[in-house]
Formats: sequence, structure tokens, C-alpha cells
Amino acid sequence: METNRIIVGCMRISDKDVQSVNKLINAAIENGINFFDHADIYGQGKSELIFAEAVKNNSGIKREDIILQSKCGIRPGICYDFSKDYIIKSVDGILQRLNTEYLDILLLHRPDALVEPYEVAEAFDELYRNGKVRKFGVSNHKPMQIELLKKYVNQPILYNQLQYSIPVSNLVANGLEVNMTSEGSLDRDGSVLDYCRLNDITIQAWSPFQMPNWQGCFINSEAYPELNNVLNELAGKYGVSATAIATAWILRHPANIQVVTGTTNADRLKEIISARDIKITREEWYRLYLAAGHILP
Ligand SMILES: NC(=O)c1ccc[n+]([C@@H]2O[C@H](COP(=O)([O-])OP(=O)(O)OC[C@H]3O[C@@H](n4cnc5c(N)ncnc54)[C@H](OP(=O)(O)O)[C@@H]3O)[C@@H](O)[C@H]2O)c1
Repeated sequence: METNRIIVGCMRISDKDVQSVNKLINAAIENGINFFDHADIYGQGKSELIFAEAVKNNSGIKREDIILQSKCGIRPGICYDFSKDYIIKSVDGILQRLNTEYLDILLLHRPDALVEPYEVAEAFDELYRNGKVRKFGVSNHKPMQIELLKKYVNQPILYNQLQYSIPVSNLVANGLEVNMTSEGSLDRDGSVLDYCRLNDITIQAWSPFQMPNWQGCFINSEAYPELNNVLNELAGKYGVSATAIATAWILRHPANIQVVTGTTNADRLKEIISARDIKITREEWYRLYLAAGHILP
């Protein structure tokens, strides 16, 4: 089972300077977090370049001490592409930008309607054989899309990165509102949470503090007054920030979901990491869920 519960997402670092990225990396490592999430498209490759530059300037970091994950399969402005050649070419670009010989984990970023699963299998075999990628996973995939890949791919699919936060929680809503006619009962993802638990696939929650549809962060947002009241009350009880409580809500789920945080602020990252030491109660988990406007039958 994965023991890393917090992952530092690097989507938003592309316009930061090397010094502040270095500070972010140090804040993670000094607090026991060594897992970094990238994608070839973040800042059109700039996030990976800046991250590598920061690591190069930081003599305390050895490659084997950090976990580097990146994603491929989105061709900016064009389409999705899981062809063998594109996957291999993308990984070569990622390795070059990250200035590393191998990725610990490669994820396929978003499903490609034209996927030929045997091509994915050939790409994964080659990348694994050449030592360029050690473990594989997907992102934003439904159970049957993973099953299709699994029929051909030789390596286990170990991760599925999905959007999940207190407000954006269809992952649990459709299981809770099962057999009802409410909005939340709609099964948009093929019960992917239960599927991942049944198949030992670790879910990584992206955008853990974002409102639906890229409307910004829900912490302190006027759009979620009740949720923020409960977050602040529990923050007082546990002696941490509201952001830490929102993180603890994700960590409380028994599926051992990992939180992929996107902050570029070293102090905020430390607040988020402090959630590892908190286990909110069952009652508090449901209170937060309801305060975000969800319903229970
Ligand atoms: N697989 C996918 O399809 C997919 C899609 C999107 C993202 N991702 C991954 O998920 C990671 C996280 O995504 P995200 O950046 O959208 O997540 P997030 O952690 O929900 O959002 C971070 C953003 O919210 C801001 N923010 C403002 N107030 C905040 C508060 N109180 N607490 C926390 N953040 C606050 C942060 O600003 P500051 O920087 O000033 O703190 C930052 O701009 C990305 O870096 C990427 O690795 C994956």
C-alpha cells in the first residue's frame, strides 16, 4: 500500500522563479514529503524545466530520495494521443526536461477515444525495459477504460488521478445517493472509487481546494459560507488551518486517497502537510460534506 499521502503538484510553478520553487521543494522535503507530480503540458514543459533547475541548485537532494511522477497523452490544442510513438516521444521529452534518467511513475493524462491498447502495451514494455519508467497509472479514467488497458498492458495499473474535493465529490456522492433521482445519484464515473479499491489502484485527488468548473479556491470563498464556517470551527478545534481540515477530509476516506496539492506557497504547503496528523471523526466528515451543499437520502 502507498504510504505517501501528500503529493506536491507542479502545474502552477511554471511562472515562478527558481528560488521560490526551491523553497517549495525544501518545505516538502523538510516535512517528510518527497513525491512530486508533473505533466508534460504544465506550462508547455516549463514546470518540469524550472523544477529540474531548482533541484540542480539544491545540493541536498539526491535523485533516489524523491519520487517523480509525470503524465503524457494530451497534445495541446490538438487532441489526445496514446499512440506508441507519441507516448515514447513524450517520455523522452519529460526525462530531458526533468534532467533525470527515469520516472518513478508515468500516468496517461486523459482518455484517448482512439486508443489502441496494444500500442500502449508496447510503449509501456519498451519504457519499462529501458528503465525509463518504473511504475504506471492513469488519470481521469473510468473503470472499463482501465479494464481495456489491463487486457493488454503487462505492468500493473497502480494509480488513477481524479478530481476530488469537498465540493467536487461525485466519487462518493453517487454511492451515497444510490437508487435516487437526485443530481448526485448520477453515476458519471462508473463507480470508479469502488473499482479502484477493489483493484488496489491508489486514487490521487487533484485540485483538492478548487470549486467546480475552475471557479477558484473554496477556502474563504463567499460561494461556500456554511462549508467555511464548519472548516473554521474544526480548524479551531484541531489547532490547524481551514486548508488543513479540507485536506484531512480527503485523507479520512479509508481508500487511502493521496492529495495532489497545487499550492506554490511554501508556508501553505506546510499547513497542508500538517493534516497528516489529524483524523477527523466520522460525524465531522459528514458535517463537512453536507455543509458543501450535498444531500443524504
Ligand atoms: N490529472 C489531471 O487532470 C489534473 C488536473 C489539474 C491538476 N492536476 C494536478 O493537481 C495539482 C493540484 O491542482 P490545483 O493546483 O488545481 O489544486 P489546489 O491545491 O486545489 O489549488 C491550488 C491553487 O489554489 C490557490 N489557493 C488559494 N487559497 C488557497 C488555500 N487556502 N489553500 C490552498 N490553495 C489555495 C493556490 O494559491 P497559492 O499558490 O498562492 O497557494 C493555488 O493557486 C496540480 O499541480 C497538478 O499536479 C491534475
